[in-house]
Amino acid sequence: MKKILIPRKIVILGANAAGRIAAYTASYDKSIEVIGFTDPNPRCYGQSIFGKPVLGGDDKLTSLRESGVKGAVIAAGEPQIRAYLRNRVIAAGLHLVNLTHPSAVISPATKLGAGTVVLAGAVLSDNPIVGMNCWIGLSAVVTHDTTIGDDCLIGGRSAVGAEVQIGDRTVIGWGAVIGPRRRVGADSAVGFGSNVVFDIPDCVTAVGNPAAVIKQRSGA
Ligand SMILES: CC(C)(COP(=O)(O)OP(=O)(O)OC[C@H]1O[C@@H](n2cnc3c(N)ncnc32)[C@H](O)[C@@H]1OP(=O)(O)O)[C@@H](O)C(=O)NCCC(=O)NCCS
Repeated sequence: MKKILIPRKIVILGANAAGRIAAYTASYDKSIEVIGFTDPNPRCYGQSIFGKPVLGGDDKLTSLRESGVKGAVIAAGEPQIRAYLRNRVIAAGLHLVNLTHPSAVISPATKLGAGTVVLAGAVLSDNPIVGMNCWIGLSAVVTHDTTIGDDCLIGGRSAVGAEVQIGDRTVIGWGAVIGPRRRVGADSAVGFGSNVVFDIPDCVTAVGNPAAVIKQRSGA
C-alpha cells in the first residue's frame, strides 16, 4: 500500500526577506507545509507571501500550536532576536524545524542543531558542529572540526574553517573569512568582507583585513 505523507504544519517567524527565503527553502521539503508567517510589524498583518498569510505577532504561537501547527522556523538575521524568538517558540510548545536547500552539501558527519537553516549552495564539509537555530547563508562554506554556537548568522559566501570556534549569537558577515584555528567570541559581529587573522573576543564588532575591533556589542 502506498504510504501517504501528511506534511507537518509549520510557521515562519519573520515576514521579511529572510522569511521569503525560508519559505522557498521550505517549499522543497514535502514533509512540511508552511501555513503562514508571524512578524512584529502590524502593518504586514493580512498580507500574503507566496500565498501564505502574515497571521500576526509571536503572541499567536500558542494558539497556532493549539490549532495543529507543530513547528517553527526563525527567519531573523540579528542573533539576539533569533535567541529571543527561539525561547518564544519553545515556550509555546512548538518544535524548531530544520530547513536545508537541496543544493546544500552537508557531509554525513556534520552535527546540526534543531532549527538551523542551511541555504542554497552552502557546504558543510567533513564534521563541523553547528548549534541550534543558526542561519547558514547562501554558498557559505564551513569546514572540518569547526564549532559554531547557537543562534548565529553565518553570512552568505563566508568561509569558516578549519578548526574554527564561533561563540553563541555571533554574526559572520557576508563574504568574511575566518581563518584556520581562529576563535570568534560570543555576541560578536565580523563585518562583511572582513578577514579574521587574529582571534576576536566576545561582545565586539570587528571589521577589515586583518579584522580589528572597532566597538563593543552588548551580550545576551
Ligand atoms: C560590521 C557591522 C556589524 C557594523 O554595523 P554597525 O554596528 O551598524 O556599524 P556601522 O555601520 O555604523 O559602521 C561602523 C564603522 O565600521 C565601518 N564598517 C562597517 N562595516 C564594515 C565592513 N564590513 N568592513 C569595513 N568597515 C566596515 C563603517 O564604515 C563605519 O566606519 P566609520 O566609523 O569610519 O564611519 C556591519 O557593517 C556588517 O558588516 N554586518 C554584517 C551584515 C551581513 O553581512 N550579514 C549577512 C548577510 S547574508
